[in-house]
Amino acid sequence: MPETGRRGFIYTVMGTVGALVAAWYAFLAERFMLPPPPAQATWQKAGPSSQFPLNQPQLFVYTGDGGFPDGVYVVRLSTGLRAYDVHCTHLQCTVQYFPATQTFNCPCHGSVYTLDSGRVIGGPAPRPLHRHFVRESGGYVYVGGFSS
Ligand code: FES
Repeated sequence: MPETGRRGFIYTVMGTVGALVAAWYAFLAERFMLPPPPAQATWQKAGPSSQFPLNQPQLFVYTGDGGFPDGVYVVRLSTGLRAYDVHCTHLQCTVQYFPATQTFNCPCHGSVYTLDSGRVIGGPAPRPLHRHFVRESGGYVYVGGFSS
C-alpha cells in the first residue's frame, strides 16, 4: 500500500472514530440537559401493596412505555407512594439505596439524594431524581411513565 493510501486510511479511521465519539457525547449532553418528557402514564403492576412497607424502597423494572426497561425505586412514605428513576441526574449512573442513611447514593461522582423527595443533598447532580407516576388500587401498586 502506498504511503499516501495508508495515511488516508488512518485519517479515515480516525475521522470515523472521532465522529462516533462526538455523536456519543452529543447524545449524553442531550440526555443531561433535557429532562425526560412527562409521559402519558402507561400503568404497569409493580406488585401487591404488602410488598411496599414504609420507608423501604423496592427496585422495580418498568417497561410500560415501550422503550428500554427502566429501573424504578418504589417507596411507601408516610406521605404516600413515590417512584424514583434509578438514574442519577448528573451523568445517568445507577443510584443505590443505603438504608443506614436513608439516601440514594451515586457511585460515579458521589451525588446523594433524599428518600423523602429525591432532592439532591450532595455531589454534582443538578436536579432531583426523576419521578414516575405511581398509584395504588385494589391492593396493588402501579407505576406509570415519567411524571417529572
Ligand atoms: S453520574 Fe451520578 S454523580 Fe455523576
